Amino acid sequence: MTMTTYNQISAPSFMYGTAWKKDATARLVQLAVESGFTAIDTANQLIHYQEALVGEALQALAAQGVKREALFLQTKFTSADGQDHRTPYDRSADLTTQVQQSFDSSLQHLHTDYLDSYVLHAPFSRRGLGAADWQVWAAMEAFYEAGKTKTIGVSNITAAQLSLLCQQAHVKPMMVQNRCYAVTAWDKDVRDVCRQHGIIYQGFSLLTANRDVFGEREIHAIAGREGVGPAQVIFRFAQRVGMLPLTGTTNQQHMLEDLAAERISLSDEEVQRIETIAL
Ligand SMILES: NC(=O)c1ccc[n+]([C@@H]2O[C@H](COP(=O)([O-])OP(=O)(O)OC[C@H]3O[C@@H](n4cnc5c(N)ncnc54)[C@H](OP(=O)(O)O)[C@@H]3O)[C@@H](O)[C@H]2O)c1
Repeated sequence: MTMTTYNQISAPSFMYGTAWKKDATARLVQLAVESGFTAIDTANQLIHYQEALVGEALQALAAQGVKREALFLQTKFTSADGQDHRTPYDRSADLTTQVQQSFDSSLQHLHTDYLDSYVLHAPFSRRGLGAADWQVWAAMEAFYEAGKTKTIGVSNITAAQLSLLCQQAHVKPMMVQNRCYAVTAWDKDVRDVCRQHGIIYQGFSLLTANRDVFGEREIHAIAGREGVGPAQVIFRFAQRVGMLPLTGTTNQQHMLEDLAAERISLSDEEVQRIETIAL
């Protein structure tokens, strides 16, 4: 199963996230691809991600015959306030140079000459979009227009900011990646803007941000009927409402279970009930 952006780029329907894997990153990325994941999310941000170790796994996989084109690689530009002292760019340089240096170092880490998705980790502004956001976005648009990335996107964004970006950007985002809480109807406002513009919505922390929902009778009833765990029901629900879910599992059994969620059958009524389960 794949999903398609407004510029006709396909992405797999599940993504493996590499945050907080530390030294295990290379082993886990290799295991994830061997288990069936073809989309990998990382960031050039050493506090939380080991992008170079993702690249190490990709080299090992290439040696086993896994071609670059068979994978969907996504990484991010993280501004200096989201980094520690190990910024992958000269932090005294202007923002356009910072994004360029970060992008070049990501390509080096990942041993590739293009990305499938390049994401702004978070807008600088809490509300609206400021000069810094527009400067970074313009640099990312240039990568897209030069064919160095097939899509560009933004993470940790509000519905109002996303609408503004869609209205005023030269190139609209094709990807959005947000933490997805059941108490906001699973980020429905942002998902609605994505649907309107042909943007793929990626949901993260679907499990870790929604532990309360796991205990709901409805989830248990579906899990029991389908012979699966509550995590798989949540992931299937996410796919049914048009989301591309991320999983951060470190366990191969869970990797296989997460991918198998696609086979779970949910009725339209069940999907609607889960969507409003925490409202
Ligand atoms: N853009 C951003 O700012 C941002 C922020 C945070 C995360 N992310 C991305 O999103 C990815 C996923 O985030 P996350 O780690 O919070 O995701 P998550 O999938 O919600 O949480 C992972 C947790 O769920 C458990 N799990 C996964 N599958 C399971 C299953 N089938 N049964 C039971 N437990 C299961 C894992 O345990 P086991 O390890 O035991 O399976 C782990 O404790 C990150 O790696 C990163 O790539 C992006």
